[in-house]
Amino acid sequence: MSVNKQVKRITTHTLQKMKAAGEKISMLTAYDFSFARIIDGAGMDVILVGDSASNVMAGHETTLPITLDQMIYHASSVIRGIERCFVVVDLPFGCYQSNSDIALASAIRIMKETGAHSVKLEGGEEVLDSVKKIVGAGIPVMGHLGLMPQSIYKFGTYEVRAREESEADKLRKDALLLQEAGCFALVLEKIPAGLAGEVSASLQIPTIGIGAGSGCDGQVLVMHDMLGINTEFKPRFLRQYLNIHELASDAVRRYISDVKKGDFPGPGEQY
Ligand code: KIV
Repeated sequence: MSVNKQVKRITTHTLQKMKAAGEKISMLTAYDFSFARIIDGAGMDVILVGDSASNVMAGHETTLPITLDQMIYHASSVIRGIERCFVVVDLPFGCYQSNSDIALASAIRIMKETGAHSVKLEGGEEVLDSVKKIVGAGIPVMGHLGLMPQSIYKFGTYEVRAREESEADKLRKDALLLQEAGCFALVLEKIPAGLAGEVSASLQIPTIGIGAGSGCDGQVLVMHDMLGINTEFKPRFLRQYLNIHELASDAVRRYISDVKKGDFPGPGEQY
C-alpha cells in the first residue's frame, strides 16, 4: 500500500517517508474553503496557500503586494476545508527578509491564527537565520529556490533560472544549507530538469518542482492555471486539466439569457 494511503493525516513525517519510498508527492495551491474541500477530498498530499493569491485572487501583477493579514485570511479559510492534507502557507514579501525575529513573529502569527501546519519562504543563504529561528520554535519550514517570484524585480524576467553554472552552483549550495538548517522540503521553481534531478538526488528532504522536470520528488501547480480558471498564462511546464473559464462563461451566459427571457425562475423554482 502507498505511504499516502496508510495515514489519516499527511505530516512532515509522511512526506519524508514518501521520499524514502520513491512515492511522488502531489501539491496544489488553494486559497479558499470550497476549493480546499474539493482538493482535500480528491486525495492531494499537500495544499500550498501560495502568495500567488496576490495574482490569481487579487489581480495584482506580482506577489509583492499581498499582506500577512491577507495570507492569514486565505489560510484560515483553507484550513476549515481540509481533513487530511498537509497545509503550507507562504510568508509574504516583507514579513521575513529584514530580520529573523520578524520572520519568527510572522510565522507564529500564521500558525496561531490559521491552524496551518507549516510555512514557506523564498531564498537560500540570505534567509538561513530566519529558517533556523522558525524551525527552532518548532515550526516546519519549506524552502523555495530557483525562480523566486518575490525577487522578480531583481531578476527582471520570469525566464528559467540557474542555466548558468554560477547560479546553478549557488542553488546546489543553498539547497544543502536549507536542508542543514532544518527545512523539511524545498520547492524548486523553473530550473533545468537536469539540475533539479541532481539536487533532488543529493538531498534527504523531498523537493517539489514547478517547471523543474520529472526528477523532483513531487510536483506543484497553481490551481487557477491547472483548472483553466486563468487561461492567459500558458508556460511550457503547465498541464491544463480543465477549462473552467470556458465552462463558467458558458454557464453565466445561459443564466443571463434565462433571466432576460423571463425563463428563470420557473414554476418549480419559486415559493
Ligand atoms: O505562491 C505560489 O503559488 C508558489 C508556487 C508557485 C510554488 O509559491
